[in-house]
Amino acid sequence: MNDLRDKYIGLIAAAGDESTLEDLRVQAVGKKGEISLLMRELGKMSPEERQTAGPALNALKDEINSALSAKKAALEDAALDERLRGEWLDVTLPGRPRRMGTIHPISQVTEEVTAIFADMGFSVAEGPQIDTDWYNFDALNIPGHHPARAEMDTFYMHRAEGDNRPPHVLRTHTSPVQIRSMEKTGAPIRVIAPGRVYRADYDQTHTPMFHQVEGLAIDKDISMANLKWVLEEFVKAYFEVDDVELRFRASHFPFTEPSAEVDIRCSWEGGTLKVGEGDDWLEILGSGMVHPKVLQNAGVDPSEWQGFAFGMGIDRIAMLKYGIPDLRAFFDSDLRWLRHYGFAALDVPTLHAGLS
Ligand code: PHE
Repeated sequence: MNDLRDKYIGLIAAAGDESTLEDLRVQAVGKKGEISLLMRELGKMSPEERQTAGPALNALKDEINSALSAKKAALEDAALDERLRGEWLDVTLPGRPRRMGTIHPISQVTEEVTAIFADMGFSVAEGPQIDTDWYNFDALNIPGHHPARAEMDTFYMHRAEGDNRPPHVLRTHTSPVQIRSMEKTGAPIRVIAPGRVYRADYDQTHTPMFHQVEGLAIDKDISMANLKWVLEEFVKAYFEVDDVELRFRASHFPFTEPSAEVDIRCSWEGGTLKVGEGDDWLEILGSGMVHPKVLQNAGVDPSEWQGFAFGMGIDRIAMLKYGIPDLRAFFDSDLRWLRHYGFAALDVPTLHAGLS
């Protein structure tokens, strides 16, 4: 019995996996195992012999069974440890960001502009990119013969012969949204309207599709002074500086009276565009006091209400802020350019967290 014990305890201790262990169990205590066979011998023994051999065999069987289950548990623990080691992951390591594409500078700037004007109480309005010539021109006091129509290099929608619907155009500016928003909510009103606009024009600072943001504030006593303050506040917040030099130039738009164009001081030196320095000026917006006829066309009584409007080039101010010298690159869809100038998808600009 001692030999058997030494043999099986040794083999069990040396077993490397669960199937070896199972083989050993069958060999030792299985139905035809060595110990089970010995137990069958008990019947042939004398009662005295049986009295010592019986309990001894039972004890041996118990010892081997518990050695088997202890070893089984140890093998299972080892297998679990092994698996945990293999699947180990350091959750304190910084994440590896997966490339999800980037936010185009135009989208980023539109968000920035919206955040700044929202803070000044402007809500966002929208209008269609394909609009009637009434909204794009007539309602804005640009009659059919007006030279502004020709100057705008308008894209007209094709019309089949016999089509009697009013002519449609790709909107040449966001100003039609002034009319649509006043029609919708009347006065007082304070909205901005960012969006795409179209003109047949193409060079370093002009593309046939570009972006504007319209601003409109109508109330009882809004003046040019309010316009100037709003624009200065905007420009300071947008460029994140205390001082930006703006130039207000007397101008003319059929839909505002008086009118002013606003330029911003900049430099093109060395092919990079920098704001706030140099001897160049880049025109960024047109503005003025909304013409009484425009208010009237939108159903707002000009003897009661007045206010300002402006239309700003989003692409222009994006070029200035991010030092992008050629507007055409915005619309080339060059992935290398987007990776360089784009913004992380989760970097949403807010006034409290920073705009850029
Ligand atoms: N719509 C004008 C343009 O596109 C800009 C503008 C808007 C001017 C509002 C005055 C008031 O050039």
